[in-house]
Amino acid sequence: MKIAFFDTKPYDIPSFNKYGKQYGVEFKYFETKLNEDTAELAHGFDGVCAFVNDTVNDKVIDRLYEMGIKVLALRCAGFNNVDIKHAFGKLHVLRVPAYSPYAVAEHTMALLLTSIRRIHKAYIRSRDFNFSLSGLTGFDLHGKTVGVVGTGRIGRVFIDICRGFGMRVLAYDKFPAKGLDNGDTVRYVEMDELLSKSDIISLHCPLTEDTYHIIDKTALEKCKRGVVILNTSRGALVDADALLAGIKSRHVGAACLDVYEEESDLFFEDNSGHIMEDDTLARLISMPNVIVTSHQAFLTEEALSNIAETTVKNIVDFFNNNQCPNELCFRAGGPEDCKSGKCF
Ligand code: NAI
Repeated sequence: MKIAFFDTKPYDIPSFNKYGKQYGVEFKYFETKLNEDTAELAHGFDGVCAFVNDTVNDKVIDRLYEMGIKVLALRCAGFNNVDIKHAFGKLHVLRVPAYSPYAVAEHTMALLLTSIRRIHKAYIRSRDFNFSLSGLTGFDLHGKTVGVVGTGRIGRVFIDICRGFGMRVLAYDKFPAKGLDNGDTVRYVEMDELLSKSDIISLHCPLTEDTYHIIDKTALEKCKRGVVILNTSRGALVDADALLAGIKSRHVGAACLDVYEEESDLFFEDNSGHIMEDDTLARLISMPNVIVTSHQAFLTEEALSNIAETTVKNIVDFFNNNQCPNELCFRAGGPEDCKSGKCF
């Protein structure tokens, strides 16, 4: 099995080589992202492996289909960059539904603690032997209320971490998880109540039509003054211009972003020698109470190994058995994991 691997980064190669060798899958690593201009590179391969910022739109899907490619193996959980409806009947789309919810949840807490205890400021000061504490006053997490939007794998791990800090949790999910609401320290509420009562809001839902800009101007106006916004899920959950306005007006106390709506041409790359064209991102990064990491929440050794192993097993499952439990399928009700494996 020969697979064209797009948007390759050096940290991808060791684990994919390891599991590829183990299961008989050969990868050809391309640094370029998959898009309409680069789809041609997949010619002669059995399948394609893509990541979060590859563009798998209708044109890319049609081109891959024309070239006889049957499988798109996503090495990520989210699939908002794939036109799943258009892929139906043409391309089998496999994904890695979970690889380490701990990686993302722990990074979210790392961002929160860094922000509210001003670690990013203290680190720079002490390297310059500036041991002044002025301006470094933080606040306790104990006793604070955190609003968690999306209580799936990552959201639930983040809730556990927050409970360890003695925080109260208000959760919102379109499909609430059974047994999570204990009527006391963890309660499911409507989105408006979550917005108005939370000191910290953390987003752990997928990007869908429902959740696009779930944090916009109107939502921010409902929040407490000083609210801390955490987004380690998908950039377009937050309207970045509204967030910037909230930061400038001091209504938003701090923001920690591992994802950004317009990240695809910027994140994962060294842009340090370039002029930053995105004024909103440049202004957000310039703020002392905004921390941006470049979609690194997943980046732990454990997660990379799990991603590679599951992706390779997905490919092998599909080619050997013509089915894969991690196939995405667009059926009448919407995209869902196809358990039958006989989509088309
Ligand atoms: P999951 O599928 O286990 O959980 C998602 C939860 O969101 C589910 O409980 C679902 O019911 C809920 N949800 C769906 N629609 C909703 C809506 N309209 N409003 C509120 N909740 C809604 O997914 P998991 O593994 O917890 O991942 C969550 C998100 O984290 C992914 O969709 C992905 O975008 C992001 N992610 C980010 C990474 C990073 O490196 N920054 C790495 C991995 C995932």
